[in-house]
Amino acid sequence: MAIKRRWIIVVTHPAVLKQIKNADERHLSMQAAADERNSMSYLLSNCIHENPLHVAIIQRKMRHRLLELIPDMLIRLDEILKRHITVGADWVTIETSHLVLECISITTNRVLVGEELSGDKEWLDLSEKLSLAISEAGLLVDLTPRCFKQAVAWYLLPSGIWNAYLSKLSGVFEEREKRMHDYDTGLAERPKDAIQWILEAAGPSSLYNLCMYILYIQFSSIHTSAASLMNALFDLACHRESQIPIQREIAQVLELKGGWNKQALSNLKSVDSSLRESQRLHPVTTATMMRKALQPLFLADGTFLSKGQWVVVPAWAINRSTEIHTDAHTFKALRSLESSQTDRESPVDAYVPGDGFLSFGLGRHACPGRWFAASELKLILAFILAQYDFKLPSDTINRPMNNFRFFSCVPDGTQRLVFRARGKALR
Ligand code: HEM
Repeated sequence: MAIKRRWIIVVTHPAVLKQIKNADERHLSMQAAADERNSMSYLLSNCIHENPLHVAIIQRKMRHRLLELIPDMLIRLDEILKRHITVGADWVTIETSHLVLECISITTNRVLVGEELSGDKEWLDLSEKLSLAISEAGLLVDLTPRCFKQAVAWYLLPSGIWNAYLSKLSGVFEEREKRMHDYDTGLAERPKDAIQWILEAAGPSSLYNLCMYILYIQFSSIHTSAASLMNALFDLACHRESQIPIQREIAQVLELKGGWNKQALSNLKSVDSSLRESQRLHPVTTATMMRKALQPLFLADGTFLSKGQWVVVPAWAINRSTEIHTDAHTFKALRSLESSQTDRESPVDAYVPGDGFLSFGLGRHACPGRWFAASELKLILAFILAQYDFKLPSDTINRPMNNFRFFSCVPDGTQRLVFRARGKALR
């Protein structure tokens, strides 16, 4: 397979997958491939791949903070749902993509930038637009000859949005820097958000680079999570019979665990299972584990990789492999719960990568945000299912099509769903 002047070798052999999963970054590099492919050095900053301090922050802190903030998140989600879904007993058609993006943006940013900035609607709007613009610009800069890359990157980034975004965010970083002494001496409570974690992990660093870490996390998280939630809603809307056992489980768990809390969330196994199943069938990137060879090497199946060549694993095809999954192309919301312990497709936890589930990659570079995404999506999806039934509009027969571009696969944002309030909302 060739893209531009780059040869990409698509691998499926289990031994090669294992080799990539455990590969030394100096031989098969994820950072080099990601930097080149997303053009981060030109669009944001070299610091993202030279000093990837955001990875540990995402892995160790973000999910934990989300779970602490469940009550606050629910107030915000409730406000969004009430504003979008003004329904009574009748079915009403909703702009689903706007609803989904708002839910994801508010929950992610509450953890990233704290209460004040995440309540600033203008800033949320700027960050949603900027992360989308960066992912589109990344592809074009990648296709541009090296000598023009920087100029094209500057040209493609919307300067008005960029400046307004940076001015607000750098103002908060500056304020935090000034108050660091107060936090250290206990005069003020140390904020618990990614702004603070990045400030402390980065040491002496420019304000610009500090902001770029936040922007990079937004770029990696907001639209991937929104697309995944939208996919789950589409799948459950097409399989309305699946909503019933999930809603029943939510009611039972909330009753048993005393409402919406961390324990309740970890017991919502059928919500986990339906998210995993939707993610299996509709991974937001059709090929994962993209790596660049930094030196010549042989793959485990005998293929020779010369320096500079790339490998990818076709996640879409493997996720749908009939050798791994029974009824591989069918959405079965409770698949993970029904398959036996010995079954190759079995892990129940929403986003544990495995042989037949590569939507988050595999191994040491598997998505560090998957635990956060799993809890965030579970909270939002369960909160929606607890209060509403939803289905496809009556003039739609099939599941809305995905839009494919290069390796990305996103649900059709123009498709709407129809919602109805449930008789007795579960709170
Ligand atoms: C459902 C939503 C998400 C999906 C489907 C997804 C998928 C992926 C995939 C396929 C990779 C590449 C893995 C590889 O090359 O092997 C990746 C990497 C990454 N993801 Fe996610 N992701 C999601 C959510 C998030 C969230 C919420 C965050 C942050 C909070 C995040 C941060 C990242 C970062 C920083 C990387 C690069 C990892 C590295 O540098 O080692 N992702 N993601």
